[in-house]
Amino acid sequence: MLPKNPEDFRTIWLSPDDDAVVQIIDQRLLPHEYRIHNLKSWQDGVVAIADMYVRGAPLIGATAAWSLYLAALAADGNQSEIRSAAKALLESRPTAVNLRWAVERVLKCLDSASNADELRRLTRQEAERICDEDVEISRGIGDHGLTLIAAIAAKKNDEPVNVLTHCNAGSLATINWGTATAPIYFAHQKGIKIHVWVDETRPRNQGSQLTAWELAANNVPHTLIVDNAGGHLMQHGMVDLVITGTDRTTRCGDVANKIGTYLKALAAHDNAIPFYVALPSTTIDWNSRDGIAEIPIEERDPDEVSNVYGIANGKATVVRTTAPNTAVSNYAFDVTPARLVTGLITERGICDASEGGLLSLFPEMQTA
Ligand code: MRU
Repeated sequence: MLPKNPEDFRTIWLSPDDDAVVQIIDQRLLPHEYRIHNLKSWQDGVVAIADMYVRGAPLIGATAAWSLYLAALAADGNQSEIRSAAKALLESRPTAVNLRWAVERVLKCLDSASNADELRRLTRQEAERICDEDVEISRGIGDHGLTLIAAIAAKKNDEPVNVLTHCNAGSLATINWGTATAPIYFAHQKGIKIHVWVDETRPRNQGSQLTAWELAANNVPHTLIVDNAGGHLMQHGMVDLVITGTDRTTRCGDVANKIGTYLKALAAHDNAIPFYVALPSTTIDWNSRDGIAEIPIEERDPDEVSNVYGIANGKATVVRTTAPNTAVSNYAFDVTPARLVTGLITERGICDASEGGLLSLFPEMQTA
């Protein structure tokens, strides 16, 4: 069950009964069923990431880190087995760069451990640290993003601030608090009136099935809309601010995020509505510059487009909505060029979506 105190919420943890088992929420089943799923091997971790039991860039990274801990438990000090696990994890989903970041970070334990026991201890410690740090990063994003919402609220004469978001860049996509949702939760906690337009986010419905679920659990007013409604709402003054997450941000500020994000950015630009992207620094790919040319865009199973998951006669079920032979493509992400992004909200502050902007917050990456 969900903890009473939102501070205690976690999307991944070590089982309190067995430290050879990592536990996650099976997000494929939300909002109709809340089921905890056990990961008992690194192979379980690969399946959980690839089949989207867990998803969202930071949580994908954290799951990979815990999977390498499970690999260390099984490998008995055999480094090549752990490196094979790392390779399979890296191939499980291509777009979110946090995956590579987390895998490389845990693999460093291989150099420092002198025996199998120490390797188990160090990989566990590193996975725990990645999760704890992610919560603090989300908190930083929340604090900085809150200033944007507060500034808009100050001009709204007690009317709610309307924020539009796409996909799920919420608590469920991170360890807690989310990226795009952290400023929303913090504003709500401070008593600022806020209302969220939740894009449905076809084909996997992360908006209708995950974002709406967690906003409801935190009592944040929200309304679900179809993906094509955002432009209409913006034309009619019903959106004050757009905040989305990202799976990979280039050094120059281009952002890859769930398919459809680019269209929201175009509509926001046309209507002079601020379009912000919230991200932990673990999502920045300092080695890439041109997002459209360089970021690999995942193509997923066409069945995700032809089928929908829902509830019928009280029973959770999947139904096909198309004719059996309809040709389908399923691009999972798109790239929004930096010129359409008003600013990036990071744990260190808010900056322009540009190389100069990012380097002003992360000067240590100047030479990277
Ligand atoms: O395919 P998903 O559900 O993993 O896509 C998730 C997103 O696109 C999120 O917006 C992104 O990972 C940022 S999560 C803080």
